[in-house]
Amino acid sequence: MDRKNIVLVGFMGTGKTTVAKALARKLRMHYVSTDALIEKREGMTIADIFSQKGEGHFRDIEAKVAAEAAGSSGAVIDTGGGIVMRNENIAALRKNGIVVCLEAGPADILERTARAAHRPLLNVEDPKKAVEELLKARAAHYGKADHRVDTSALSVDEVVKKIVEIVRN
Ligand code: S3P
Repeated sequence: MDRKNIVLVGFMGTGKTTVAKALARKLRMHYVSTDALIEKREGMTIADIFSQKGEGHFRDIEAKVAAEAAGSSGAVIDTGGGIVMRNENIAALRKNGIVVCLEAGPADILERTARAAHRPLLNVEDPKKAVEELLKARAAHYGKADHRVDTSALSVDEVVKKIVEIVRN
């Protein structure tokens, strides 16, 4: 049997990328980022894909990349926050993976995402409203993950430790 992947899902700003890299180092697994695969495939940044080709196109490429990443083994897969919106993505990623959702409250998310301008969905006039609406619209999708870790009050190392406990049990 292939070594299982660990798939991190969760809203923007919940720490997926930082945690996935630290987790991969700790468990000596490969790090795979669906957003990086999308940018490589399209030869442009996510912000440019959204503005030049539209969100629908981004989601179609994201689905292809999710299927491709799902074929990995022994990888920590860092996904984009909206990957959960298509059930087929999660179904594919779950075939050889444990899906862990990182969570944080809207205030933490806003603070953590305020410094970066590369997220088109939050690069809007009222990011607070966007975060609240998207969190509400996606709650049921994030709820389908196999496990949840609230990262609000935890350091990166503590989140990594929790995930290691989850996957070893
Ligand atoms: C998105 C999250 C982003 C990226 C894109 C869309 C989303 O990834 O995939 O901007 O729909 O939540 P991060 O969650 O890594 O910021």
